[in-house]
Amino acid sequence: MANLIPEEKVDQVRTAVNIADFVGQYVQLKKAGKNLFGLCPFHEERTPSFSVNEQKQIFHCFSCGRGGNVFSFIMDLENLSFPEAVAKVADFGHIDLPASYTAQSQPATPKNQEQADLLKLYADSTKLYQHVLMNTEAGEPALSYLHERGLDDDIIKTFDIGYAPPERLLLDFFQEHQIDYQLLRQSGLFIENQAGELRDRFVGRVLFPIKDASGRVIAFSGRILKKSPDEPKYLNSPETKLFNKRSVLFNFDLARGAIRQNKSVVLFEGFMDVIAAYRAGIQNGVASMGTSLTNEQIYMLERVTDQLYICYDSDMPGQKATDRALKLLGGNSRLKLGVIQMPDGMDPDEYLRSAGTEKFAAVFSAGQQTPTAFEMQYLRHDLNLQNTQDQLTYIAAVLQQLSQLDSSVEQDLYLNQLGQEFGLDKADLRQQLRRVVGQQTVHQQQPHGGPPTPPPPVDMTPPPPTITGMAPDNGPISRVERAERLLLFRLLHDHDVWLRVMAIAGFHFVHDNYQQILVYAEAYFKTHPQFELANFTDFMGDQALQPVVTSLEFMDVASETSKEEVADLVNVIMNQQPVAEKINGKKAELTTAKQLGNNDLVQQLTLELIELYRQAQRVQQADNL
Ligand code: CTP
Ligand code: MN
Repeated sequence: MANLIPEEKVDQVRTAVNIADFVGQYVQLKKAGKNLFGLCPFHEERTPSFSVNEQKQIFHCFSCGRGGNVFSFIMDLENLSFPEAVAKVADFGHIDLPASYTAQSQPATPKNQEQADLLKLYADSTKLYQHVLMNTEAGEPALSYLHERGLDDDIIKTFDIGYAPPERLLLDFFQEHQIDYQLLRQSGLFIENQAGELRDRFVGRVLFPIKDASGRVIAFSGRILKKSPDEPKYLNSPETKLFNKRSVLFNFDLARGAIRQNKSVVLFEGFMDVIAAYRAGIQNGVASMGTSLTNEQIYMLERVTDQLYICYDSDMPGQKATDRALKLLGGNSRLKLGVIQMPDGMDPDEYLRSAGTEKFAAVFSAGQQTPTAFEMQYLRHDLNLQNTQDQLTYIAAVLQQLSQLDSSVEQDLYLNQLGQEFGLDKADLRQQLRRVVGQQTVHQQQPHGGPPTPPPPVDMTPPPPTITGMAPDNGPISRVERAERLLLFRLLHDHDVWLRVMAIAGFHFVHDNYQQILVYAEAYFKTHPQFELANFTDFMGDQALQPVVTSLEFMDVASETSKEEVADLVNVIMNQQPVAEKINGKKAELTTAKQLGNNDLVQQLTLELIELYRQAQRVQQADNL
């Protein structure tokens, strides 16, 4: 078992790291009023409902109700235990934390355990394969292959590249370590025959580990050393419990910092391109897994940046893929787009090796194209512009393209270019463009046919200010619960209120979660003179209650309270409380009256009971409001 991390240490880590900076690694935050807003990383959304309050060092999502401090954030996001979360935040803040705090953290649940076992298997395989590559004779051909491709040992280590030699070794290794057969089966590291026997999947291949957003290896992609007609160039791990191709981007873990710094991401076609760019100092590059970008991947990127450059191979298939990606992204995301193309039909890795770092980097800084500029060039690919018919086709296609632009300044720019190239009058071109735009409007008004209506621009304005007493799940809440939330807020923040209310005999909240927080607070105030939210959430440790208490901070409440306000709140809550109890009391009285044969009393009590039932019903209706 891990040592418990002392509270001072936890506090030290939490206060040293600004939650906005930490969360900013995962979510692009924009200031609005006193809070920062962004797209919630816990669910898919297009309008930001995720909010960070820097002053209080907490976060809250108005849409899914998640909330807490910096530790709860990363625990939720990456499924970490508390000590692991503290270690991760400490690492971000460059604070030393003795390893004993985090070693062997908390007993895992079976599901987590299985996941942890698979991660361990991949981590061990990565080490073994790298050892083979770097330190053994069997690894020599692969090591010289990588060196020839310009990867030095530092880069090999940065990307944890390894080598699976032609002779199989992984199965023996794990069997020696008595790893469970079922786990080995599930890992995707082996091929199974009909008799259920396992064999290493990767043989004679350089292995590029595929990592999740936290940098943990979840799969491999293996490249053969020499091209062969019988075998695919790259072989990937199959999908497993850890590895879902659709939601992984190669190098996202390492690139995230650079993406934020550069305020942009570069999307490449291949791993080798990402690695080449990285070598040349362009470290904000990622690649999808040899497929076009999925919605999941777009969401990942939208959360950390506004700007995406597509840098696919500049050969014809690469340009086709660029055109497809621009169309896909244009309709599916709010990312601003750009295109970067290497000269002479090369892929980025080839160009770096032939032209050198400086020229390579220059393409990134100076060779950015707008999507329109790219399309104007791409549309030429199967046309002969010496031929008048093709010229007309081309001009029509470009005008079609320009009609999609929102900015008339940009339209003007390209109309100029078009006019110059073909010796046409710009006014004529503009008139023709107006006609294209007009046609589209007509098409769009028809129920069928015509180009699909582009989705409305994504609204990046933050949601309206919080409504008093908004519930964590965003649903409407009852008057009683509103009172509970406000009173709890007052109790935590104003110790006079605390003392007054706690002196009321039998006070307790109606809803269990608020009552539980109250109980935690009672213990908390015994050891802490002052309420501090971020510290209190750690103190509670209860992951279900953290968002509840955090959401209180995002209520729009008056800064001052009054005796009257507190008395009103207590009344609303306390009156709610006894109805059920009163009913029970009344029933007992009624039974006795019946037993005594006191008919007058029976009649009176029955009437009172009916009135109580009515009350209870009203309360319930109010609760459902
Ligand atoms: N790919 C794949 N399976 C293949 C070929 C390619 O999964 N048989 C994927 C890989 O993710 C690869 C990407 O498609 O990184 C791009 O393919 P390609 O351009 O052919 O690879 P390069 O990155 O140029 O690889 P190399 O330079 O090693 O030839
Ligand atoms: Mn290549």
